[in-house]
Amino acid sequence: MDKFIINGNKTLHGEVTVSGAKNAVVAIIPATIMVNGVCRIENVPRVSDVIIQLEILQQMGARVRSLNPTTVEIDCRGMRNARTPEDLMRKLRASYYLIGTLLGRYHKAEVAMPGGCNFGGVRPIDQHVKGFEALGATVSIKNGYVYAEAPQGLRGANVYLDVVSVGATMNVMLAATMAQGQTVIENAAKEPHIVDLANFLNAMGADIMGAGTDVIKIRGVETLHGGTYSVIPDQIEAGTYMAAVMATGGSVLVRNVIPKHLECITAKLEEMGAQVEELDDAVRVTRLEPLNKINLKTLPYPGFPTDMQPQLVAALCLAQGTSVITEGVWDNRYRYVEELRRMGARIQVDGKVAIVEGVPELTGAKVQACDLRAGAAMVIAGLAAHGTTEVDGIAYIERGYENIVEKLQGLGADITRVTVPEEDRMPMAR
Ligand code: EPU
Repeated sequence: MDKFIINGNKTLHGEVTVSGAKNAVVAIIPATIMVNGVCRIENVPRVSDVIIQLEILQQMGARVRSLNPTTVEIDCRGMRNARTPEDLMRKLRASYYLIGTLLGRYHKAEVAMPGGCNFGGVRPIDQHVKGFEALGATVSIKNGYVYAEAPQGLRGANVYLDVVSVGATMNVMLAATMAQGQTVIENAAKEPHIVDLANFLNAMGADIMGAGTDVIKIRGVETLHGGTYSVIPDQIEAGTYMAAVMATGGSVLVRNVIPKHLECITAKLEEMGAQVEELDDAVRVTRLEPLNKINLKTLPYPGFPTDMQPQLVAALCLAQGTSVITEGVWDNRYRYVEELRRMGARIQVDGKVAIVEGVPELTGAKVQACDLRAGAAMVIAGLAAHGTTEVDGIAYIERGYENIVEKLQGLGADITRVTVPEEDRMPMAR
C-alpha cells in the first residue's frame, strides 16, 4: 500500500494528455463477450479497474493480447464459462456489466455482487434487474451473487427507468443487443460513455439508435462481428486536471479531449474565474484572479457531473466567498470533507448540501483517499496547500487515473509515489 507525497503551493503549467474514458471502457470490455470475432480496442486507459476486468475475461477463457500500452485485442470466442471469478469481481463496481453481456451471450449469468467505490450510501442495482426482467430473465440475488437466467432467450421490451442511471442504461442496452425484437429504454441516461458504448456495439454490427437522448431503441441482432474501436477521452480525468489548475493557479493545455463533453465543467470553471479556450481536441485552462465562489448542483449529463464534485470542492476551498454545493445524484458523497478539514478547509455538510467557505490557504496534512474522486480531491488540495501532504489509500485513485503522478510532474507539480513500510501504515477506515 503506497502513498503520494505532495509538496504543494506550486502553480501548474504545460500540457497533459488525457487517457481513454474509464467508465466507457469498463462497459466495452465486457461487451466483447458477445462478439463472435476479435475486437481491437484503442485508447484503453491502463488503470486498475481495466486491468482487473481484462484478468476476469482471461480467467473465463478469453484471449487477451496487448498490442501496445493503449491497445488491446480481445477474442472471447473460446470462452466457455458464464460464472465469473468472485475474488476479482468484488474488486470493481463495473462488474455488473457482465450480467448484461453474459445474459446476451449465454442467456445465463452468475456474477458476484459489485464492489467498487464506497461513498457511504447504498449503490442499488434494482433498475438493472427491472430491465433484465422486462426482457424475460428471472433474476435472484443470493449468497452475494446475482443469478440471472432466460432459458428461452431474451425478448425485446419497453423499459422505463425510474431513476436516470448510467449503469442500468448501459446494462439493459447490452442485454438487448442480441435479444429477439426491439427494446426501448425510456428515461435513459445520456452520458458520453453511453454514446460510446452504443457506438462500439454498432461498429460490431448492433442496431442501436438514440444513445445520447433519453429514449434509446435497440433492435436485436443475431450476431456481432469483430472490429477496431477507439474509446473516447475521459471527460472526468480532463476535468480533474482543469480543477487542479483552478486550485493552484497557472495555465495548462489539456490534450485529447472532446471539448463538447467538457462544457458542463467549463461553464462552472468560467464562473469561478477561469479562461477556457476550446481547440479542436484540446482545451487551455488559465486561472485568472480572484477565484470566485459558485453555487453548484450535480445532475445527470448534461448537468454538472457528480464525479467532478469533490475535485471542484477542493478548489472552492480557496475561493473568495462561500459556495453552496448540492449533490443531486448520490445520497452521500461528502465523506472526504473531513479530510479536507484537516488541511484547514471550512466546510459544513447538511445532507446533500455542502457549504464551502473559502479560506486564504490550505495547509499540508496526512489525508486519506476514501474513494476514487475523493482521492483526486485530496491530490488537488495537496497541490495547492502550503507544506507537505501525504495521501493514503491511493489504490482508489489508481482505479481511474492513469499515470497521475507522471502527468502532474509533467505540469511542474512536486508529487511522488512512495512505498509505505507495513508498520507505518494508516488504518484504512477512519
Ligand atoms: N440507482 C438506483 N437504482 C439502480 C441504479 C442506480 O436507484 O439500479 C441510483 C443510484 O443510487 C444513484 C443514481 O441512481 O443515486 C445514479 O446511479 P448510476 O446508476 O447512474 O451510477 P452507476 O452506473 O453505478 C456510474 C459511474 C459512477 C458515477 C455514476 C453517476 C461507472 C462504472 N460508474 O455509476 O462513477 O458516479 O455513474 O454518473 O460508470 C466514478 O467514476 O468515480 C464513479 C463512481
